[in-house]
This record gives sequence, structure tokens and C-alpha cells, in this order.
Amino acid sequence: MNLFEEVYERRKTRSIKWDLMEMIYEIEDASEILPLWVADMDFPAPPPVIDALKKRLEHPILGYTYIDDGCKRAIAHWQSKRNDWQVEEEEIMFQSGVIPAMAAILQVFTNPGDSVVVTPPVYPPFFSIPQNQGRKVLYSEMKETNGEYTLDYEDLEEKFKTATFFIFCHPHNPGGKVWKEDEMNEILRLAEKHDVLIISDEIHSDLVLKAHQHIPLAKLAGDQAHRIFTCIAPTKTFNLAGIQASMLIVTDPKKRLRLENHAAANGTGMMNAFAPVALQAAYEEGEAWLDELLEVLSSNMDYVIEKLGASIPSIKIAKPEATYLMWLDCRDLGLEESEIMKKLLHDGKVALEPGSKYGEPGTGFLRLNVACPRSMLEDGVERIIKALG
Ligand SMILES: Cc1ncc(COP(=O)(O)O)c(C=O)c1O
Repeated sequence: MNLFEEVYERRKTRSIKWDLMEMIYEIEDASEILPLWVADMDFPAPPPVIDALKKRLEHPILGYTYIDDGCKRAIAHWQSKRNDWQVEEEEIMFQSGVIPAMAAILQVFTNPGDSVVVTPPVYPPFFSIPQNQGRKVLYSEMKETNGEYTLDYEDLEEKFKTATFFIFCHPHNPGGKVWKEDEMNEILRLAEKHDVLIISDEIHSDLVLKAHQHIPLAKLAGDQAHRIFTCIAPTKTFNLAGIQASMLIVTDPKKRLRLENHAAANGTGMMNAFAPVALQAAYEEGEAWLDELLEVLSSNMDYVIEKLGASIPSIKIAKPEATYLMWLDCRDLGLEESEIMKKLLHDGKVALEPGSKYGEPGTGFLRLNVACPRSMLEDGVERIIKALG
């Protein structure tokens, strides 16, 4: 059976997606519920990654582990090949995740009360992390037309006037948008004009569907690259979230030093024994798997548009340009979000994410994760139709 067709039993594997639904959705029994929510995939990681991890376990001692130059070379080579972006090995720093990296950056380069701009609907930690650190969050809502999101530059500039940081989701989760060169040039122009630093979260950048191309913001930025902190990771790309590994690309050596000092002061920046093994194998030997995955994702998205779109025409579905997340516009269903969630969980027995989680402008939308075998997705779509059709 094809790697992307086999259905694995994931319950009782300490999976947040499968084993924590009672807590997350506040329901008594989730044993019948199909989870199509949090962003990990129901596909096995690339075989060369699993082989490398097995080989590592042939040695039974799991002591302190460092990240060697082989990892850095693999990352730089990957960026050069996939995105034509030349990253110097010395510019690469490591963290256990993009969110911990983001938290560290904000801690080092902002003070309580400083303002951070985000563009909802957007991945919730973009606003919860700065909020939890006592920073002020400025929301510049994106405009949505027929499923496509664009920035409101006038509003963005207004917010940039008093902001220290902008957190950019590139590609965009949950909108699935791959940002274009002219849009990013405008962001860079405004950031330079108002001296705003940028976290460019590019964790989804390998998951760009054919016909689209990811352009790293720092690659485009030229002499403005010094104001950008790029976050990337092998974890979304190769379904390794539990491995906990991410990279930060920081071109400005002074900023790197400040982050290194922060890591030393907080005892962070180390990786577990498995992360560098998985990371290197993924970047060196995972490309064929990824290219196949992208085909499967694209075809799964087409299926959802065809089947769900035809069965419930009032749900508007645009095909994402990237990610494996679909953003279903349910505003014409005429139902409150709480009612929609109740119907999905109780009538359909399927768990999607409520759009309001992504900020107020997400209300009326649902986020659907399509990274699963087709048979599971078909089951999921039937459940959605049963609940909302
Ligand atoms: C835009 C974005 N950034 C970061 C993360 C999480 O990153 P990590 O697990 O490396 O902290 C996600 C996970 O869904 C995401 O969508």
C-alpha cells in the first residue's frame, strides 16, 4: 500500500490530535470523533527519517547531544535548492520550535508595553505570545475577497508608526496564501520607513503547492535583511512535530549575539538526541517524499472542493496555495459558530477548528486539515455533510 494511503491507529500514542479532544473540545467522550483539526498529518514521516532514527537507537546511550555542521549544511543546501536562497551556515540558530523562537525574539528585542503588529485571521500564538509577555498587540485585519486575503496597507502603516515588531505568516495560516513579491516589497518599504523589525514565520514554506513559489522575505529584502528573523523548521514539512526542532535565520551578527546571550541566560538552544538526526535525514533524503506529499495534498483539496462544495454550496471553499489547511467560509450557513461546532461534534462526530480561534475576523470560518489518507478524508467530508448539510 502507498505511504499516503495507509490508515494508522494513532489513539493512545500521546497524540494531541487524537487523544486530547475531550479536553480541547470540552466533550465527555471523543472516542467516535474523527480529528481533522490541529496541524499535524496522519501520514508516516519519510522512511529515510524513520530509518535514521532507528539506527540512532541501535546505540542505547542517549546523552547530551549537540547540533553539528552536517545539520547546518543540510539546511543551507535545502534552502538553496528549494528557494534559491543562499543562507550562510553561521546565520543559522536552533530552537525547539518556532513558537519558542518567536517568544525568545520578542523577549530580547521588545520591552513590556511595546507594540507588536499581527494580521488576523492568523495562527493564535502570534497574538497570545506577545500578550502573555505584556506587549501590546495591534491588529491589522486582512481584507478577504472571494477567499483571497490581502493586507490593508493603509492600516498596516498606521499600526507600524507606533510598533516595534511585525509578525508575518508566510505562507499564511489559515488563509493558505503564498505572498507575492509586490506585497512583500510593500511590507519591507513600510518596515524600513517606520523602523519595524519583522519575524517572518516560514514554517509552511515547504508546503507550497505546484504552480506557486515561496520567496523568503529575507531573500527579497536585500540591505533590509538585517531587520528580519526568519523561522523555519522540518517539523511541518515532514510531519515531525513531536521531534521539536526549528531554525532561526538571522543575518545581523549583533542580533545573533543577543539571542545567543539570551539562550545562555535561559538555558535554551539545546536539542534532544533525536532532533538533529531526523532533521538532517529529512533535508538530505526527504525530498522525493515531500514532492509526492504535495501531489496528495493538492488532490485532497480538489476532492473537498468537489464533494463538499457540491453538497453544501453555501460553504465557500477556495483552494489554498500552500499548507494542508483549508479555510471554509461558512458565513452563509446562517448559524452561530457555537451551533456549527455543536453540530459537527455531536451530529457529524468530526472535529474541525472554529475560525474565531484565529482572531475575530475568523468568525464564520472553519479550518479543515486535509493531510490524511483519502479514505479518512472521505469519511470526514461525509461527517461534515451529515452535520451541516
Ligand atoms: C504559522 C505557524 N507557526 C508555528 C507553528 C508551530 O511551530 P512549532 O511547533 O515549531 O512551535 C505552527 C503550527 O501549526 C504554525 O502554523
